[in-house]
Amino acid sequence: TAGRIVVVGSLNADLTIYCERLPLPGETVHGNGFAVNPGGKSANQAVAASKLGGHVSLVGAVGDDANGAMLLASTASAGVDISRVRSSSVAATGVAVISVDAHGENNIIISAGANGTLSPADITAAADAFDRAAVVCLCLEVSLETVAAAAQAGHDAGATVLLNLSPYAEIPQSLADLSDVLLVNAHEASLFLGDAEVPDADADAAAWEPVRLQFAARGLERVLVTLGAHGSVVLDSQAAAGSRITRVAPTKVNAVDTTGAGDAFTGAVAARLAAGDSLAEAASFASVAAALAATKKGTQAAYPAIEDVERRLAS
Ligand code: RIB
Ligand code: NA
Repeated sequence: TAGRIVVVGSLNADLTIYCERLPLPGETVHGNGFAVNPGGKSANQAVAASKLGGHVSLVGAVGDDANGAMLLASTASAGVDISRVRSSSVAATGVAVISVDAHGENNIIISAGANGTLSPADITAAADAFDRAAVVCLCLEVSLETVAAAAQAGHDAGATVLLNLSPYAEIPQSLADLSDVLLVNAHEASLFLGDAEVPDADADAAAWEPVRLQFAARGLERVLVTLGAHGSVVLDSQAAAGSRITRVAPTKVNAVDTTGAGDAFTGAVAARLAAGDSLAEAASFASVAAALAATKKGTQAAYPAIEDVERRLAS
């Protein structure tokens, strides 16, 4: 049976306006639709992993308000254990203001709200969940000290610590050292490596060798780089020579809304690692899950079930 997953971090209400094209600074454009949906990178990752067969506990905080109730309902109905999502009486539920254009591309601004109250004390309070975890899944929408405490708890429990470096922030080397698998997009990879040059999205595996070496020099031996519509690349410095870089081909879909597609990828990787997949196997599966997530509006409600991914893989 698959190991347990603990996801630590954010829950947001996503206030989304759909429009033809995103406004430039100082510009106003007409939208053509508005929706309030459950979101937040960590809630999304938890839902994605659960829908894909993972046993998931979410550690986070919401406000005592309607948005918080929406998020608790959405995550719980996806099968996520929400007993460690704290309800704050002082802060409102986190909010994301999102615009999505006709190509499914987006801009997002987040306001932390209750997510900003998540602290190392919440990690200590969830110690029982960490003790049983096979995978601990982290992103940067809550404070770095909370992320560091969660990484330490996961590490101490012998879990695989999966860190999604999003939204991008510089992290201390101690947090990098506690991270078993780093998950980044190409832009985050470049920033992390000090504005390093990264290959074009359609470059072959060999072109990623210098990037693999730079990550390894920073102590990150297992890295997944997502490349949007171009698939992903797996940098595994622990693999045998000759199979340290794997290029995962994209899954061609008609993208309607890419919001949270990266979270679907992260959650899918967590689910597959907990089930015992190799990093390359997990990335292949996650690529399909993320592509399918982009074919529908919104995040959590758009995420595929395990059968949807398996059907696509078989076709
Ligand atoms: O990655 C997408 C998510 O980022 C949205 O759901 C939004 O809430 C922000 O956290
Ligand atoms: Na979507």
